[in-house]
Amino acid sequence: MNTTEISPHQRISTLREQLDRHNYQYHVLDEPEISDAEYDILFRELQQLEQNHPELVQSDSPTQRVGAAPLEGFGSIQHEIPMLSLDNAFSDEELGDFNRRVSEGLKAAGAIEYACEPKLDGIAVSLLYEDGRLIRGATRGDGYTGEDITQNIRTIPSIPLKLRGTGWPARLEVRGEIYMPKAGFEALNQRQQAKDDKLFANPRNAAAGSLRQLDSKVTAERQLEMCAYSAGIVEGGSLPEAHGAILKQLNQWGFRINPEMDVVSGVEACVDYYNKLEQKREQLPYEIDGIVFKVNNLAQQQQLGFVARAPRWAIARKFPAQEATTELLDVEFQVGRTGVLTPVARLKPVFVGGVTVSNTTLHNMDEIERLDLRIGDTVVVHRAGDVIPKVARALADKRPEDAREIVLPSSCPDCGSDIEQEEGEAAARCSGGLYCQAQRKEAIKHFASRKAMDIEGLGDKLVEQLVDQEQIKTAADLFSLTEAQLVRMERMGPKSAQNLLKALETSKKTSLNRFIFALGIREVGEVTALNLANYFGSLDELRVVTEEALIEVADVGPIVAAHIARFFKQPHNLEVIDSLIAAGIHWEKPVKQDASEQPLAGQSWVLTGTLQSMGRNDGKKLLQQLGAKVAGSVSAKTTALVAGEKAGSKLKKATELGIQVLDESAFIELLTEHGLQP
Ligand code: IVH
Repeated sequence: MNTTEISPHQRISTLREQLDRHNYQYHVLDEPEISDAEYDILFRELQQLEQNHPELVQSDSPTQRVGAAPLEGFGSIQHEIPMLSLDNAFSDEELGDFNRRVSEGLKAAGAIEYACEPKLDGIAVSLLYEDGRLIRGATRGDGYTGEDITQNIRTIPSIPLKLRGTGWPARLEVRGEIYMPKAGFEALNQRQQAKDDKLFANPRNAAAGSLRQLDSKVTAERQLEMCAYSAGIVEGGSLPEAHGAILKQLNQWGFRINPEMDVVSGVEACVDYYNKLEQKREQLPYEIDGIVFKVNNLAQQQQLGFVARAPRWAIARKFPAQEATTELLDVEFQVGRTGVLTPVARLKPVFVGGVTVSNTTLHNMDEIERLDLRIGDTVVVHRAGDVIPKVARALADKRPEDAREIVLPSSCPDCGSDIEQEEGEAAARCSGGLYCQAQRKEAIKHFASRKAMDIEGLGDKLVEQLVDQEQIKTAADLFSLTEAQLVRMERMGPKSAQNLLKALETSKKTSLNRFIFALGIREVGEVTALNLANYFGSLDELRVVTEEALIEVADVGPIVAAHIARFFKQPHNLEVIDSLIAAGIHWEKPVKQDASEQPLAGQSWVLTGTLQSMGRNDGKKLLQQLGAKVAGSVSAKTTALVAGEKAGSKLKKATELGIQVLDESAFIELLTEHGLQP
């Protein structure tokens, strides 16, 4: 044999070392050093060598994670040290009580040091290592006796089959949580759906189901991870004296620990940590249901000891539940500004995600069908973070005999006009237009709003009163209101009435684009209104415009064009416009521009920093007048950046990307060049 030739034995051992290392970098540290494809090449080489040399196969080889022969059942395992549970705290106050008990127990005057970790929503497990090798994995079970799930555990890539480094105790039990990341859960359910198999309700159930498989090959296909959170048995060696340090040590020996883990001093810092993580909760790639706070110092932990089944030195501060069940009492239909009918669920009030929910939108009839909802159903309400609560699902097995179907009304609940639903559209609409009281209120509120006619002092409540008391029917009626009429409204003294009349007078001088926007034409927002004003230059032209001509305008597609044309065909809309003009609304004629003539058409600009000669919003409008789109952040698509004083990260990014940067004077020069002024 050539002495320089590498023996299969040597090559196998090198490959195992490399694969173990890459596995650790990827699954434990989240810092892969090679691509998946490169990993696969090394893996396949090892597999091949082991196939050719079966005598060299070892149970802790990276190839041995694919699952073993199915079991008849799980054996049971006595925990040498019981696996306890945690007490819960549901408020900052209860967390404060915990801290007080700890301080009293330790007779400590100063701030206590706490280790803070997310409370992962998964399955607790115990892993036993002897001489550095994984010999057994068990579920928590009832805390005293668990199930032997060694074969399944061995398939999880973030669990080391043998410990890394040196210095570990001869017998070491590592405890932690096995969980399924959100992405793995979504992917699993998609595969289940494709196979017409049962869907898992949440990542926790999916993790539990995957772990309790008698066939570990199934477990191997599931994306499971483990995060270590404590040690149990420690014999023939020792661990550091503080919880945080123990976790760091476990991390070096090959275990994943939570990257959010932190050690803080005092209960106020614990509250801060809790708030910070609650904010971050939705963005985390895995589900958590609270924060676990543990006294960091092990000697202090021992001093405090246990009560019943939980330690005195730790507590779980739970987040408010994100799901709760309640009863669907009724479904009502609300009419919006554009006439869209929105079904709203009336619920038996339920506390979820930190608020009491008694009604929530169901969006449209398609959604009701998708959820297969009936009035009387028991439903699951979901509220995560600051998101609007939603009905997540109905519990089919709890449906009462007398559950009622939800039907779209045939006439508008507000004005009695017919309801129309266009082919292929989810939304149903009232055909009553400006005659419909519901739409009238919303139309007038929109007309008066800041970005439309900007009528100061005309709030939503006042509009509602004026319409309800039939003082006004359309926006045009606003301009013939008198002080006498106004003072009859709630919370309206002579002074505020006079101010409002003044504001109405001031608002008459406006711009064509604001006026177009104020009309509340479907899907015509500020930018489209501005493009229309620039393109047509006058209302008279716009009134008689055809759909074909409208499509020429920047930002206007066939659907918006149809909405605009239909709006100007309705006689009552034209009547309102005429009355508004008759009331004295006027504007200066904008310079008529063809979209293709707009100098910055097709460009994307960003504004940042403080401008001396104008507000950022004014700058934005001027750029839009020149045809540019104004974006909020710099990207490779950005054409140019206007950087005022104290410009920060956007300026840095633009410079890095080599994007053109204009300072304020260059920007003003550009504006004047095109006949605009700041
Ligand atoms: S410590 C004696 N830390 O919560 C202390 N538990 O109710 C034992 N859990 O069964 C647990 N994340 O499954 C601890 N960072 C964490 C945790 C955590 C999740 C689970 C664990 C345990 C349950 C306690």
